[in-house]
Amino acid sequence: MEISFKKRDMISITDFGREEIIYLCQQAKKMHGLEKNKQRDGLSDELKNKAMAYMFYEPSTRTKTSFITAMRQLGGSSDGFSGIESTSVMKKETIRDTVMMMEANHFDVIVMRHPLGGSLQWAADVASIPVINGGDGENEHPTQSLLDVFTLYLLNNENLDGISIGFGGDLSHGRTIRSLSLALSNFKDITIRWAAEDFLGMPEDLVELLASKGVTVMREKRVEDVISKAQFYYMTRPQLERMGDITQEDVMKMIGKYRIDLEKIKKSEVKLMHPLPVNSEISEISYEVYFDDSQAFFPQAENGIFLRKALLYEMLKETESIPFSGKLNPLLERGHNRLKRTIKEKVKEERRFIDNIAEGTVVDHLEPGTEQEIAAGLDLTKRGCSSIPAHLPKAGKSFLKTDLPGLSERELKRITLISPEATINHIKKGKIVDKFVYLLCRNMNCVTRVINEDVPPKFYDDKGTVRCRYCRKSYSIRSDKISSNEREEFLGSLPKGIEQITSGS
Ligand code: NCD
Repeated sequence: MEISFKKRDMISITDFGREEIIYLCQQAKKMHGLEKNKQRDGLSDELKNKAMAYMFYEPSTRTKTSFITAMRQLGGSSDGFSGIESTSVMKKETIRDTVMMMEANHFDVIVMRHPLGGSLQWAADVASIPVINGGDGENEHPTQSLLDVFTLYLLNNENLDGISIGFGGDLSHGRTIRSLSLALSNFKDITIRWAAEDFLGMPEDLVELLASKGVTVMREKRVEDVISKAQFYYMTRPQLERMGDITQEDVMKMIGKYRIDLEKIKKSEVKLMHPLPVNSEISEISYEVYFDDSQAFFPQAENGIFLRKALLYEMLKETESIPFSGKLNPLLERGHNRLKRTIKEKVKEERRFIDNIAEGTVVDHLEPGTEQEIAAGLDLTKRGCSSIPAHLPKAGKSFLKTDLPGLSERELKRITLISPEATINHIKKGKIVDKFVYLLCRNMNCVTRVINEDVPPKFYDDKGTVRCRYCRKSYSIRSDKISSNEREEFLGSLPKGIEQITSGS
């Protein structure tokens, strides 16, 4: 297999395989070698006329500066924003338009961080220049996982098989654990041990996914049990910003006995990693540990520069600049989420409720009690449309009938956010001409759920599992109105795996 990163996006670590990860580690080792041989700027002509845009919608110290440093040492330049206060995001500009502006400004690559899961896949779909994910919500942080893996590669004699690693801190709300464990799943005999309160524990969907890829994941009672059995211990910061009403005090109680102090590590050979930052109030790693030989997290942060230097070099070396087309790809407009329902002729129920209007839309199989809210949300009365929201307790049916001829994507999304898996019927000349269920990712933090971002929901078939193209969470159909034939047909219509949407990226 020929390994090339030229003009490719880096959105999810799962898009890269074992050989590609090893290759990047080897290239990063060369960058590491340059630094050790006092040749920090040895490649400073390589990306001379290349420019990197950084778009950080969330705080960052390491990721942003190490990308900028990497670009500078390769002779390229960087510009962009950190924090949205100074940008037109304050004027409600979408991710799509902001990405287009970066391209219009002749950047060659974008590195972006955003609080919404899936926002990076969306940015990559929009841009024809390559996009690198610097963290999307709780979802992924692929370059962090690569620098973590590179650190393991250096500490473990350039071998990534057979690694035994412990995870601690907050395994539930962060993105580094997800990306690192998925990166490690490419290697043989990987054992992950962890100890944490349930609230901060490894997400079940991740444990299942790892198990399906042959990774052994074991929960231990105490941190000491993890440390005594692992070569490496990867501590993480409680992600308070993603915990809703949970306070720092609550977290302090939960994390108490799981904090890393000298006592816990002194009898072990473990190397201590952390993506950083450490929360100085929670002190998930106590200060005396910083002076201990086990401390590997500062070198790990420097490894980020070598790894990102390797990555940018591999992506952009000897490439032509991509001219700005000024156009959006038409594929960005359409979703892949309409589950076609079979239109049955002469069904008693449907005759009663639906085809006694000649022209319009019937939204059926609503969650009881949502019909009024949906009618209000669509502003039907103001628009001069008929509106018959109804709940028939005996039939257990809630629906909304209107003479509105069709529904826009935003309207469909609005309905689905209120009542998922409703059936939409379009009626012309007294006949149902289109009948479908508009499926919308259930991950509350997914970019597809934000109406004004206009991201069309797209699903794909990942070996029989339906996944959201954007945040990659699995989707299972819940409505019992949808028959197995209709499900099968929908699954058959989905692309197999993540497809490229734009040319050149
Ligand atoms: C991490 C992140 O942003 O996900 N930071 C980083 O990039 N090194 C970890 C964190 O914020 O806890």
